Amino acid sequence: MSRLLLVSNRLPVTVKVEKDSVSVVRSAGGLATGLSRPHERSGGVWLGWPGDVSRLTDAQRAKVEAQLEALRCVPLYLSASEVSRYYEGYSNRVLWPLCHYMVDRIPRQDRDWEIYRKVNERFADLVVRHYQPGDTIWVHDYQLMLVPGLLRQRLPDARIGYFHHIPFPSSEIFSTLPRRQALLRGLLGADLIGFHTVSYVRHFSGALMRQLGLDTDIDRVIWDGREVRVGAFPMGIDAAAFESLANDPGVLEEVATLRRKAEGQRILLGIDRLDYTKGIPRRLLAVQRVLEREPAWRGRLRFIQVAVPSRTQVEAYAAYREKVDELVGRINGLYGGVHNVPVHYLYRSFNEKQLVGLYRAADVMLVTPVRDGMNLVAKEFCASRPDEDGVLVLSEFAGAAAEMDSALIVNAYDVEAIADAIEEALELSEDERRKRMRALREGVKSHDVHWWTSSFLNRLQSLPSTAERKTGGGAEALERMKAAPRLHLLLDYDGTLVGFASRPELAAPDDALRALLAKLLARPGTSLSIVSGRPKETLEAWFGELPMSLHAEHGLWSRTRPGQPWRMLEGVSFEWKARARPVLDAFCERVPGSFLEEKTASLAWHYRMVDPEFGAIQARELRLLLLETFVGQRMDVLPGDRVVEVRPQGVHKGRVVGEATQGLAPGTLVVAIGDDRTDEDLFAAMPPDGLTINAGHKPTRAAFRVNGSGEVRKLLGALVS
Ligand code: UDP
Ligand code: G6P
Repeated sequence: MSRLLLVSNRLPVTVKVEKDSVSVVRSAGGLATGLSRPHERSGGVWLGWPGDVSRLTDAQRAKVEAQLEALRCVPLYLSASEVSRYYEGYSNRVLWPLCHYMVDRIPRQDRDWEIYRKVNERFADLVVRHYQPGDTIWVHDYQLMLVPGLLRQRLPDARIGYFHHIPFPSSEIFSTLPRRQALLRGLLGADLIGFHTVSYVRHFSGALMRQLGLDTDIDRVIWDGREVRVGAFPMGIDAAAFESLANDPGVLEEVATLRRKAEGQRILLGIDRLDYTKGIPRRLLAVQRVLEREPAWRGRLRFIQVAVPSRTQVEAYAAYREKVDELVGRINGLYGGVHNVPVHYLYRSFNEKQLVGLYRAADVMLVTPVRDGMNLVAKEFCASRPDEDGVLVLSEFAGAAAEMDSALIVNAYDVEAIADAIEEALELSEDERRKRMRALREGVKSHDVHWWTSSFLNRLQSLPSTAERKTGGGAEALERMKAAPRLHLLLDYDGTLVGFASRPELAAPDDALRALLAKLLARPGTSLSIVSGRPKETLEAWFGELPMSLHAEHGLWSRTRPGQPWRMLEGVSFEWKARARPVLDAFCERVPGSFLEEKTASLAWHYRMVDPEFGAIQARELRLLLLETFVGQRMDVLPGDRVVEVRPQGVHKGRVVGEATQGLAPGTLVVAIGDDRTDEDLFAAMPPDGLTINAGHKPTRAAFRVNGSGEVRKLLGALVS
């Protein structure tokens, strides 16, 4: 196994300064606790922020550094302004609420982006300093979304993984962010991008399509000439370690003490960082509702809520703390007695042993975030119950709910429903509790953190290396074209020479393109053909004057030189149109923004202006329907770029190659450049020594790939400069 470089904002340990003493303590939060053991096992280093060290003396700092080194942790120190603008600012005031669907918490002004970008660069530079060829780099979480892209620039062939520990929101939400495209491009620097659930993968693919026009093919997407994989890898915990702690005599003693203190009562438990995503107020209100509506429970419930101080310098967290304090006070004021209060609220952190004691003592664990990437507390609770008792109430908005369906699943926004679930949990029979807990424990144990790490890393390490997956860029193609004594270029138009416009008629050639084509035609030994899906009238109007051959409607119509007549392929039938039209008309009606284009030998349904995700689904359905309509008949149904085209078989761009290259002088290099599915026919029909270049993002048989029409123009421009 190759050496592992873990990269995360926070190291698994944080430096803690108290008066004159300084110590290195375990960091809280799912990421740090989850990855600690894989790090211990892997033998690599972990790079990240050790917390605020600004008040340390030189001697203290040296001591801390020695401790970190012993733990194989490489510190990246953040200045006070970086802490406030990169960490508290862009990461936790913008990205955190965004990914948790709380857009209205995001500040109106986008002030901290530059610092976020700079700190991401600092991380990338530090990784480069520690990188050795053959290492695997694994970047974690939203604080470092630009790092994979920055690393790809610095280490083009490195193996890079990225894992997003928090939700990836619906593309509607993600699209509200001014820097949405830069962040997506940053992530696409990775070879493998992991999320906790398939919903997050879906949302991410939606964002790629909406923002960058990239179509994810099941688990892969082509970007910048590389294949990037995406996948769902639900994170687990070190279940064996929790189980063994749960049987530790010290812990069992603590459990007995907790139970004794709660004599005659049932224990409800909540354990969270004090974060506004965790749903603590509604949980408290639900406990209040139970006491309100069921007097029998008064005095008989002890709700222990641990709230770990977190991001205290961010206003929203301070305000949230006040809200929670106030609610706790109110409920205890209403339902407490001289000897007892219903809510035991602890605003501090606990070590693992203490946590396990609490988990094992609880009757009901309340995990009710309003949104949570995974939530490891839910899993830790189950792992800590070798007695197979205890009930988990779990929010449907936690990633964990996708796996833990034997919990009592609740809508965490619905206070009444949480109250119902609490009562149901309290009243479940022992047999039912055991059945549910057994199933939960099985999942938690079989899909533990080791399973998670190895499934992610195995997938990452089994991918062919970046060098193997790269289809060459334009440079090599250009050299070959320059070296050829004579050239013939077969050029697709839309997506290859010009970008896409919302309606086909808007993508007319601009002056720069006309000038470029004229220069190419004037280049010694160079000839051109335009091979397009467009109607012949359009090509004639746009290019009629230029001395080159034109091929319209995917090769149905051709004309060799200006002034020559257009000739149609022979033996093409048209009777199929009457059967296809009603199907296509129905789709135009049901998908607003889509429209039908009629050509001589084909019908094309365009959905460029339709919501991209909805459009893609409808296009898939239309293709199926058309295939069904013409089953057993010689018809092609072709997906293109936001278009589905139906036409008789045998009419395709490949038919052009023979005619266009007829009579070329021996030694002429034939070059085909195209971007979509219909150009693959062209590539397939090329002479064996021809040169093929794809300008799109889909899998291709072309030997070279460049990025869009901009790069095609640059490449052709370089031929005549
Ligand atoms: N945790 C901790 N000390 C505490 C309370 C919690 O170390 O006092 C740990 C807990 O064991 C869990 C993590 O913090 O591993 C919380 O992870 P989770 O995924 O539930 O939520 P996050 O904090 O990552 O949002
Ligand atoms: C969540 C995030 C982690 C983060 C942790 C604690 O688990 O996904 O990236 O480290 O919360 O938050 P903090 O801001 O203290 O690092």
